[in-house]
Amino acid sequence: MKSVQGKTVLITGAAMGMGRLFAERAIAEKAKAVVLWDLNEPALQRTLEELSGGATEVTAYLVDVGNLDAVTASAAAVLDEVGRVDVTVNNAGIVRGNQYFWSPTRPATPSSPSRSTPPHTDVCRREPSCRA
Ligand SMILES: NC(=O)c1ccc[n+]([C@@H]2O[C@H](COP(=O)([O-])OP(=O)(O)OC[C@H]3O[C@@H](n4cnc5c(N)ncnc54)[C@H](O)[C@@H]3O)[C@@H](O)[C@H]2O)c1
Repeated sequence: MKSVQGKTVLITGAAMGMGRLFAERAIAEKAKAVVLWDLNEPALQRTLEELSGGATEVTAYLVDVGNLDAVTASAAAVLDEVGRVDVTVNNAGIVRGNQYFWSPTRPATPSSPSRSTPPHTDVCRREPSCRA
């Protein structure tokens, strides 16, 4: 796919940073609709206001993508209110700070216990922090 022209694009973490840039790019490419998901309500509202008003329909949903129930409910709401999504950009919350998500010093979460165990990937083997 070389362009999202005419497509409906859903972007997580769309209120700021790279997510917002993806949204701006989709609008520039004349997407039919852009759906913004984020957990930062003031930033989400500001981005919604700043990106609205053109030919692309822009909508925003307050969603924590770490909450499965919220994701399920919001996905149903998007399907009902905007329609079928053609492209999803899973941008929110992949890596924080200067450490990879599998860093041993990152606290384990009950929903993702495997993340506390460093996987034996090539990237991990190159990282000194993974060898601890
Ligand atoms: N910027 C970089 O150089 C870089 C490098 C590698 C990976 N990444 C990853 O790309 C993504 C975007 O990076 P960025 O620099 O634009 O980050 P950012 O912090 O500027 O923006 C992230 C956005 O995601 C939202 N967000 C965070 N957790 C969320 C959640 N649980 N549910 C919904 N929204 C959530 C934030 O409110 C924010 O609006 C991040 O996942 C980051 O880890 C960024």
